[in-house]
Amino acid sequence: MKNSGSKALWAEIVEEYRKKNPKSEAFFHSVLKSQVGGGSHNLRLFSPFPFYDSYCSGSKVRDIDGNTYIDFWQGHFSNILGHNPQIVRDALIEYFQKGQGLITGFPHQYQQELSELILSRCSADKIRFTTSGTLATMYAVMLAKSFTNRSVVLKIGGGWHGAQPYTLKGISSYKNGFNKVESAGLPYELKDNIITTRFNDCQDLKDKFEKNGDRIACLIIEPFIGAGGFIFGEKEYLEKAKQLTKKYGALLIFDEVVSGFRFHAGFLQSLYEINPDMTVLGKSIGGGMPLSAVAGRGEILSLCDTKTNSNRRVKFEGGTFSAHPSALLSGLTFLKYLIKDEGKIYPKINKMGELVRKKIEEIFIRNGFNVKCTGVNESMGINSSIVGVHFLREKVDHLVSPDEVWNEKVCNFEMREKIFRLAMINKGFNTFHGYGAISYAHTKEEIHASLDAVECIASNWKKIPDKIDKTIRLW
Ligand SMILES: Cc1ncc(COP(=O)(O)O)c(C=O)c1O
Repeated sequence: MKNSGSKALWAEIVEEYRKKNPKSEAFFHSVLKSQVGGGSHNLRLFSPFPFYDSYCSGSKVRDIDGNTYIDFWQGHFSNILGHNPQIVRDALIEYFQKGQGLITGFPHQYQQELSELILSRCSADKIRFTTSGTLATMYAVMLAKSFTNRSVVLKIGGGWHGAQPYTLKGISSYKNGFNKVESAGLPYELKDNIITTRFNDCQDLKDKFEKNGDRIACLIIEPFIGAGGFIFGEKEYLEKAKQLTKKYGALLIFDEVVSGFRFHAGFLQSLYEINPDMTVLGKSIGGGMPLSAVAGRGEILSLCDTKTNSNRRVKFEGGTFSAHPSALLSGLTFLKYLIKDEGKIYPKINKMGELVRKKIEEIFIRNGFNVKCTGVNESMGINSSIVGVHFLREKVDHLVSPDEVWNEKVCNFEMREKIFRLAMINKGFNTFHGYGAISYAHTKEEIHASLDAVECIASNWKKIPDKIDKTIRLW
């Protein structure tokens, strides 16, 4: 931490957290002996140590020290109905009581029902399931490479598509742009075969296509960028992406792992009226179980069919747990519920998101800090239940791209992901990327209580100016 004042503040926040979490701290140190870094997902292993949950239900999580938190992380933003929703649990319990639910190795009829449900809501005529968003984006890129017989992947600087080789460049390491390969162990030539472009920048996209168009197999893009800052793609920009991919013979892949069923009971592509060539699905489609899919034009997806000529065939074979029967049932139950109650669920959670965005900006500005919230598409009037909170060092009217969110000169990353986060945890709110995702299980009272916590933190920080990074104070 560069600023020594912030260091003192961090030390105080850590101290309070440690006092409240002695069992989690001891547990963390004990698991370090056997588990790499203390666990199996880096984002869960926040500093100084994670709390370990003992019970999760609806909006709440209880940890092994007996603390209860209102959770806005919600299963990596999968849990639109909150933790362990009863409808999904009941369906799974009934399934297990019938003596079924574990892997059998046979294709199950639920697979067809879920396929039809998904295909009726996105621009695709074929689908194949797998187990994680990571694998699904990898297969989508492989299909694009085979279909176009080209080698270059164009991705967004700041786009996260899981830790798969073809997209591990330009994720969160920003230095005059996103140009770094962010993993060791990759084939050497990958570094020249991944090109990044700036989100929401039509000119940069055009330039990249003009320069490399005949080599680009696909543009993979999140229409609502998640880890890149919770920012919507502008309609004009995504239309440009469609036009340019078509013009240059590349494929357009929409990664809707986060955006699928998050903003309405369907995919973002239908709100934008843009048809990608392929769509990648994950998170919510499994209703809390590991399920993902690639959906797309039949002629592309058929490249993984065994009937395809072996030179073109993509080894998207399926794994032992692909289309796991319990994941299919849980996804089907969950999505059907979201569709049935769409009119109740989305207006409620989107309205809460709107309130939170407005209030958090207001609270911080009133207390002397420059803060901007993301998670709304104003030009299209799309509200959302997702809220990003960014501590600004530079004046910007709207955050439009990860090039701002991950640029230390524009946004204070540490304030968002570390200091504010732990301060909110100490107040009983588990946030992510500043705030996170509101579920249907969250109550108005819980949302207001979270805003009271923000008020308390901001007004306390106002009183201790020497401990707060000067650059985020009002200019
Ligand atoms: C947009 C996007 N794509 C792909 C992935 C990878 O999905 P998974 O974590 O299920 O492998 C993620 C994960 O957060 C994501 O946000």
